[in-house]
Amino acid sequence: MAEEFRVRFGSFAAPTKGALVVFCDDGLRMGPATRSILGKATALVTRAAAAARFTGKLAATLDLVAPADLPVDRLVVVGVGKPKDWTPNDPVRLGGVALGKAGGAAEVTVVAELPTGAMDAETAADLALGARLRAYAFDRYKTKRKDDEAAPRAVTLVVGTKDAAAARRVWPAREAVAAGVVLARDLVNEPPNVLYPDVFAQRAVELRKLRVGVEVLDERALKRLRMNALLAVGQGSEHDSRVVVMRWNGGRPSDKPIAFVGKGVCFDSGGISIKPAQGMEDMKGDMAGAACVVGLMHALAARKAKVNAIGAIGLVENMPDGRAQRPGDIVTTMSGQTVEIINTDAEGRLVLADVLHHVATKYKPRAMIDLATLTGAIMVALGQEHAGLFSNDDKLAESLVKAGQATAERVWRMPLAPEYDKLIDSKVADMKNTGGRFGGAVTAAQFLQRFVGTTPWAHLDIAGTAMGSPQTDINTSWSSGFGVRLLDRLVADAYEP
Ligand code: BES
Ligand code: MN
Ligand code: ZN
Repeated sequence: MAEEFRVRFGSFAAPTKGALVVFCDDGLRMGPATRSILGKATALVTRAAAAARFTGKLAATLDLVAPADLPVDRLVVVGVGKPKDWTPNDPVRLGGVALGKAGGAAEVTVVAELPTGAMDAETAADLALGARLRAYAFDRYKTKRKDDEAAPRAVTLVVGTKDAAAARRVWPAREAVAAGVVLARDLVNEPPNVLYPDVFAQRAVELRKLRVGVEVLDERALKRLRMNALLAVGQGSEHDSRVVVMRWNGGRPSDKPIAFVGKGVCFDSGGISIKPAQGMEDMKGDMAGAACVVGLMHALAARKAKVNAIGAIGLVENMPDGRAQRPGDIVTTMSGQTVEIINTDAEGRLVLADVLHHVATKYKPRAMIDLATLTGAIMVALGQEHAGLFSNDDKLAESLVKAGQATAERVWRMPLAPEYDKLIDSKVADMKNTGGRFGGAVTAAQFLQRFVGTTPWAHLDIAGTAMGSPQTDINTSWSSGFGVRLLDRLVADAYEP
């Protein structure tokens, strides 16, 4: 919808145009400023609520077009249920609901008030964050519109608050995170003929504008580093592979960095072990882990996070070709460990093996978190509501679960155990790249663990949560940008002073 999205925080005031959004609880109660803005239209709300059986449940809405007694085109009443029962992400969600119901109005005014009084500055800013995320649409390649579709246009969100100055102070950090989420979504949504490794790397280079250090390693550099597993995945592609290392230094120079590593398979055909045609187009999104890392680095830099962070992404295209790697090949990874290729479609772990080893040994991070659309098996286990979390560090795992609850980007801890290692033992090499039918997401994680040494590490399998996402109140696009808000929160809560 909105290529341009502006937010303004003001005082409680009655708008004269566009859409007006107000809140009520599950007793249809509204705050004093809301009632005074509605004036005579308050009675209209009461009547309409009865007619529509609207009771003010959390995220339910009552939609009144061209309401009498108001100059606006639309009045939307959004239920807040029982605010004392809110979970931390509910204000963000309600902002998404509000924008989603505004009917494409160019100006949307939200009255940030509960029946008990004005929302605090954080809550008001959370509403704006949710609205921003909901306004996102990937329509760059649409040249036509259906007759009843309004032309995309800029949206101005006006948030009426008690303390606009306070809301303006807390908004920029959220705006930075929203921009990071939007960047991640855009990267995932881009088609694979446009966004191949070199182009992806160039997008990461743009972070230099935010004073992020960005180093692009081309194939010569990767060969010199002996990233043979990553290179083997890309060797069947016409597009050269890349590794990009980003660095944000917002902490003290002596602080060890926290590192984020992303799987960036710009298209995963499966390689010689080619995938079935059905749904293969979705494999343009197999770089969602890398997209999240870039989006996160953008967010951290844009909000000037007081942390030192490394973002490293392995960018390849997995294609079948006369030069492609074969099942049966044995590759020597950068770590020196050898891998027998059983299935060329288990390519993500090969890419990550080299990047994880590189980051762990070169930067010695205090913690390392990787994100990858790694296995279909994690979707069988968890569906699309939780990402799989695997970790060798209970404290890190706990912090991630907490951050997931705070942002509604939820993660569910899965096991790691030496017994699973047997499943990836190889007769001819140190390990093989697949572990058979059982525990597919676990054996993949177990494989990664062999490349992190003693670094506190967590692996997020985001195959179910990052793309092909079910629509939510804050996302109607194919790609969710999963992980940006989660990890931004992790950094804020566990690593910033
Ligand atoms: N990129 C896929 C995993 C995937 C599947 C992500 C569906 C999103 C949606 C990964 O590279 C893959 O192909 N994994 C295989 C591993 C198998 C060959 C051991 C899988 O999950 O089937
Ligand atoms: Mn694959
Ligand atoms: Zn893949």
